[in-house]
Amino acid sequence: MVLLSVNIDHVATIREARGGLSPEPAAAAAIAELAGASGIVCHLREDRRHINERDVRILRDIVKTKLNLEMAATEEIIGIALDILPDMVTIVPEKREELTTEGGLNAAANIHYYKSVVSVMHDADIEVSFFIEPEQKQIDAVSDIGGDIVEFHTGIYANAIQRPEMEKELKRLRDASQSASASGLRVTAGHGLDYANVVAICAIPQIEEISIGHAIISRAIFSGLDDAVRDMLAAMNVQRR
Ligand code: PXP
Repeated sequence: MVLLSVNIDHVATIREARGGLSPEPAAAAAIAELAGASGIVCHLREDRRHINERDVRILRDIVKTKLNLEMAATEEIIGIALDILPDMVTIVPEKREELTTEGGLNAAANIHYYKSVVSVMHDADIEVSFFIEPEQKQIDAVSDIGGDIVEFHTGIYANAIQRPEMEKELKRLRDASQSASASGLRVTAGHGLDYANVVAICAIPQIEEISIGHAIISRAIFSGLDDAVRDMLAAMNVQRR
């Protein structure tokens, strides 16, 4: 069975549209867990456009499965992570002007620095995942850095309009998953996945977990979050049951 981590950033996005306390991301986390999510993901951005420090602290207190803090590896956010102690962190690139994370991290460009990040996280018992493109150079870098997990960026696959482009990207994801697993890394994937395109990703045997936000929160507006999470789990595991 492939596991599902639910990204609840967009619950905070709606809250920030008006200010105040509603809707509460922690309530979404509890509902997602009750519906079968195996983890909760939130991204504490430098500009705090959705999730803020208070949210992460509350989530740390109430998440019973696994709290995955997505973060840029900046000094400020590393300090917050070491204070709040999520179960794991996912290191992502971050640009102020982007609407959402636009692509994988270039882990290979800064191996020495990321080694030091992994070392401080491991000292605090925090597992480290790297959000990367499905490329051998990046897999080798994460292996060298000593990361625990790779999260492959599925955005190119998810945005592909023509079948050949989609198939090409799927092959890259399959090959990369095999290679990462052979290097001893755990394999996850995410970005742009929805109720239809998730099926082929979950058929990749090495992928143990996926991370989904937008599609689930979008459906939750119409059907409620409990159903939105349960429907995703059903779509994900049609072929693996
Ligand atoms: N994984 C990572 C590293 C992300 O940055 C995001 C978006 O916040 C996701 C997964 C989830 O993407 P989506 O919201 O498109 O499902």
